[in-house]
Amino acid sequence: MDKLIIAGGKPLKGEVIISGAKNAALPIMAATLLASDNVTISNVPHLKDVTTMMELLGQLGAQLVVDEKMNVQVDANHVNELVAPYELVKTMRASILVLGPMLARFGKADVSLPGGCAIGTRPVDLHLKALKAMGADIVVKNGYIKAQCKRGRLLGKTLVFDTVTVTGTENIMMAAALAEGKTILKNAAREPEVVDLANFLIQMGAKITGAGTHTIEIDGVESLAGGSYSVMPDRIEAGTYLTAGALTRGQVTVKQVKPDNLLSMLCKFEEAGAAITLGEDWVTLDMHGARPEAVSISTAPYPAFPTDMQAQFMALNAVADGASSVTENIFENRFMHVQELQRMGAQIRLNGNTAMITGVERLTGAPVMATDLRASAGLILAGLAADGETHVERIYHVDRGYERIEEKFSMLGADIKRRSE
Ligand code: EPZ
Repeated sequence: MDKLIIAGGKPLKGEVIISGAKNAALPIMAATLLASDNVTISNVPHLKDVTTMMELLGQLGAQLVVDEKMNVQVDANHVNELVAPYELVKTMRASILVLGPMLARFGKADVSLPGGCAIGTRPVDLHLKALKAMGADIVVKNGYIKAQCKRGRLLGKTLVFDTVTVTGTENIMMAAALAEGKTILKNAAREPEVVDLANFLIQMGAKITGAGTHTIEIDGVESLAGGSYSVMPDRIEAGTYLTAGALTRGQVTVKQVKPDNLLSMLCKFEEAGAAITLGEDWVTLDMHGARPEAVSISTAPYPAFPTDMQAQFMALNAVADGASSVTENIFENRFMHVQELQRMGAQIRLNGNTAMITGVERLTGAPVMATDLRASAGLILAGLAADGETHVERIYHVDRGYERIEEKFSMLGADIKRRSE
């Protein structure tokens, strides 16, 4: 297994180009199953999860052509295997995103239940409840979701999600695109990645309004055409590099971003004492060499502070001036980076879903273990700020969501190397 070796303590300075968003590319690639013609998707990040989704589409019978710039062309007209197998789904929970499109386009789907993961049980009950309401027959047997639509076509319905669910909103929006009649989604997720998927579907001929608000309306159509689409920039990757600038007291510019998608984080960086400059597609964070002030955060659905940035801000607060609290409201077990940060000298006390942090002047490097994607990012950030050497193990977690992470951090002057064990 690979590890990252980081010699910390230096302020990061420079520019980094942000890749396409993992959490937009995954639903958009699943949505290609809905298209009757070829679809070309560009700005796709070169990530493990993305190659897993490509593998899954290939196993279903779609034909994919990928060029050296990771532009992906998909032809879903020869899909003949309506099974998403456990072997693939267990490595990437987002495989559940093929369920809605397969049901809507082919009337049948056997998708392995995605197990839980390190950060929580990750149920998909809201996805299934909505599809059943749209006329799908669904049984869960031997670890598989066995779904079919006997009447041949799903039926548009008015649906209210009990909790805001990002992939739940995406799955049902895709299913509704080809359903008969109108579907109204209430308490829908407002994440920018949901909007990106909606824009892709609209370009293919879907009739969708309200994406990005709590209420999305979809008028089903008979079929969707092909086309081409460029994936939005990854706001979590951008936030991660900006956090690296803040906690190392440096100056970092992230390029090819949409500043509007970063606002909840930018407000927090300013609270921490950073000077933020916004361009049309870039953001500069400058600490002017100062130690960040502690900033309390409480995660919630977009446009509030994202849960996917919680571990990164925990690392920032670990070296910030003052006391802060970090409250995780979305997932029930997303504090596994805490004990690893404590091994680096972080002063953190857990009380249910809230961590109370007292910033220390300097963390000390240590061997630590990554447990999930964003926890890994938090540990890498802590290593960049710490005195001495930090070895982050099991970084296959981080490769799922960050493209060429050591290369990009090296561009910012970090001393970071990958070593294969
Ligand atoms: C998406 O996961 C993201 N993944 C996650 O990013 C992100 O952390 C999460 O949204 C929240 O923003 C992708 O987009 C591929 P949810 P998702 O359904 O859709 C509960 C990363 O690091 N819930 O919005 O699985 C659930 O347990 C990943 O890139 C149900 O109870 O999250 C959670 O408490 C990690 N029943 C809450 O809703 C359901 O049927 C929000 O989950 C579905 C969800």
